[in-house]
Amino acid sequence: MVSLTKYRERLPILGKLKPVFKSKQATYYEVRMREAYHSFHSEMPTTRIWGYEGMYPGPVIEVRRNEKVLIKWDNQLPQKHFLPVDKSFHGLMDLPEVRTVVHVHGAKVRPESDGYPEAWYTKDFEQTGPHFEREIYCYTNRQAAATLWYHDHALGITRLNVYTGLAGFYLIRDSLEQKLNLPRGSYEIPLMIQDRSFNPDGSLFYPHQPPGGIPGVEPSITPGVDGETIVVNGKVWPYLPVEPRKYRFRLLNASNHRFYRMRFDPVLPIYQIGTDGGFLAAPVKLWELMLAPGERADVIVDFSGCQGKHLVLRNDAPSPFPNGTPVNPETTGEIMEFRVVLPLKGEDTSCIPKELSPVIPLDESRVKVRRDLRMMIQRDEYGRLIFLLNGKGWHDPATEEPYRGEVEVWNLINPGFASHPIHLHQIQFQILNRQPFDVARFNQTQELVFTGPAVPPAPNERGWKDTVRTNPGEVTRIIFQFGPFTGPYVWHCHLLEHEDYDMMRPMNVLSKKDGKKPGRLEIR
Ligand code: C2O
Ligand code: CU
Ligand code: CU
Repeated sequence: MVSLTKYRERLPILGKLKPVFKSKQATYYEVRMREAYHSFHSEMPTTRIWGYEGMYPGPVIEVRRNEKVLIKWDNQLPQKHFLPVDKSFHGLMDLPEVRTVVHVHGAKVRPESDGYPEAWYTKDFEQTGPHFEREIYCYTNRQAAATLWYHDHALGITRLNVYTGLAGFYLIRDSLEQKLNLPRGSYEIPLMIQDRSFNPDGSLFYPHQPPGGIPGVEPSITPGVDGETIVVNGKVWPYLPVEPRKYRFRLLNASNHRFYRMRFDPVLPIYQIGTDGGFLAAPVKLWELMLAPGERADVIVDFSGCQGKHLVLRNDAPSPFPNGTPVNPETTGEIMEFRVVLPLKGEDTSCIPKELSPVIPLDESRVKVRRDLRMMIQRDEYGRLIFLLNGKGWHDPATEEPYRGEVEVWNLINPGFASHPIHLHQIQFQILNRQPFDVARFNQTQELVFTGPAVPPAPNERGWKDTVRTNPGEVTRIIFQFGPFTGPYVWHCHLLEHEDYDMMRPMNVLSKKDGKKPGRLEIR
């Protein structure tokens, strides 16, 4: 491992992508995935990365609610991967090594534009996966202002492609947001938080095998990869000079496996105003903020009264969360530094509104289907850990086939030791509650015996969510209405090593009118 000085690099402010053209009907973007060299830290040689537009992270795509956006996600990557590709599962041996497909996480889009894992394609669309349908994706953005993000979703190598740099912000704006008088312009800053390890020559380090090795599989996927350094917007432990005033930050945990439990040192409150899918009903004042991989938090921090201070954003989440290795307070225990050293340019007229946007609870009496879904860990034929949902993996036919428009409750049962952030495509859900159960009993008899009451979600989780932490020893209940689109989607754990092997399931949204038609091609 290389040792790098903290708070030497200035935080990069991510640039916005410019459209190729924009008309009344639609806005058209082109995004090229390219190999490039990127400086993560000035004390280290530059690093080979794969980035959207060759950038780490990719450019910010900013759209308006209801704006029709077309994007050509163009793969111009080399044919050989530079990270260790395990081809021992999912028939990857027979597939081209470098495949990509882009998913806008949190967006309501038709299946053919959603980035289905088997809709992958290679450079210049030369080879395509069985679900590939179109080169240009269409986003109608019929949803509230929110902090979304885009990232690679190719079957079996998502963890590697995202680790190389294939991730970026996708922000939806609307008129309600505009009326709120939030900090804006240069006072609104997206922060993509990741962990990465580097070799002394500056190259990205990703392990070839789990610790201890796996005889007979080289390279082999591992149950979860944590980096030794923290990278924000593409710089290792950056600092940001700020004015003594309010700022709005869009926090995204885009790490493969690491959770963050963040707080300022010296202490400063964080006002969370939005969750994954949009605004909360009202701001929630926090001293500590948790984000699992895939989750976002829209927050306001007020630095007025902090003149001259250097505030460190710390992290104390063990990995795996919550029972894994504690953070190293000197390295992964620190994220970035805010230096309140800039003079106030003008009066801060922005505010932390009392009310934001009502979040109307979904009506439990409308629930048509309740599903029990278990997180499971088994061993594969090589003795490796394989993560499953209800005992099933990617290649098992879809068992979650909800009807469009119907309300369902999913009981996400976690009898393991680590939290899994569960993510569903196409919809935003609400968290009903979490309830502890007798794990030993469950593992023997499959019987759910609760050991305590159902606890409502934390105040800052009472908004629209697309990714939820399911803690070990608890049933996490979520409620949602499927739609508006029918067809093949997916749901999965957002720990990318779990998602790849094999905690991802196809999900078909059906329409009553058409009856049951297969959403996924059964090609095997
Ligand atoms: Cu952010 Cu299906 O993923
Ligand atoms: Cu998603
Ligand atoms: Cu998981």
